[in-house]
Amino acid sequence: MKLTQDELKKFDEDGYLFFPGRFTPEEATLMKSEADKIYQTERKEVWREKSGVARTAFAAHTYNETFRRLGAHPRLIEPVQQVLDGSTYMHQFKINAKAAFDGEVWQWHQDYGTWQRDDEMPEPRAMNIAVFLDDVTAANGPLLFIPGSHKQGVVAAGHDLETTSYPLWTLDRETVSALADKGGCVAPTGPAGSVLMFSSLLVHASPPNISPIGRTIVYLSLCHVDNHIRAFNREEWIAHRDFTPIEALGDDCFDALINTETQAAE
Ligand code: SIN
Ligand code: MN
Repeated sequence: MKLTQDELKKFDEDGYLFFPGRFTPEEATLMKSEADKIYQTERKEVWREKSGVARTAFAAHTYNETFRRLGAHPRLIEPVQQVLDGSTYMHQFKINAKAAFDGEVWQWHQDYGTWQRDDEMPEPRAMNIAVFLDDVTAANGPLLFIPGSHKQGVVAAGHDLETTSYPLWTLDRETVSALADKGGCVAPTGPAGSVLMFSSLLVHASPPNISPIGRTIVYLSLCHVDNHIRAFNREEWIAHRDFTPIEALGDDCFDALINTETQAAE
């Protein structure tokens, strides 16, 4: 999947691109059912909210076949390699739940702010590409973006170790307000299977999910192989140390798994 010149221009201006329905409902259902199975395990990679519901599952591409394939899916890998202009490795892989009623906030931040400060990633030559595993609506804790905020470089941030179970370098209200005065604030919403790619410098957050409807999104954080992290301060399954270039699989790489599921149900 190659991005067009218009899409590249829009990515440069806004810092993100949204592709509703890039994965089929069957592909999204496969991934969602695997995510739910992972959330039920007691693995160290599954972090929980204070209530006990899952918040995020790290590194599922290393222990789950469906997510191994997603981690090399051409619909995700190719556009990112195009924008980053070369081979990429997986810096981080996480399946974020925002559980019905209990899913908690992600404070305002830039992902590269954390990757630079905690992992010593040299440049913001890395980005996220996400797949919605549920329908994401205004009601169930969508991502909030400040368009154009990626043009500011790394902005000042404080290390938040208290608000949630996940340590994050977060921005203060004055900074976020000043950025939103220029760029506004948007919440891309769409059906399960939609894809969202965004710059590692884009300022983003997500509100708690008080709705009765869950919201699961899986994120690949891909980094150019030359730009690999230099410091190993975090667990290997949070900030990976395997800098092997990802080889994209075929576009039909989920088909065999979907057929297996269908046969099992018959
Ligand atoms: C993130 O910003 O890394 C996660 C936000 C979310 O999944 O709501
Ligand atoms: Mn983030």
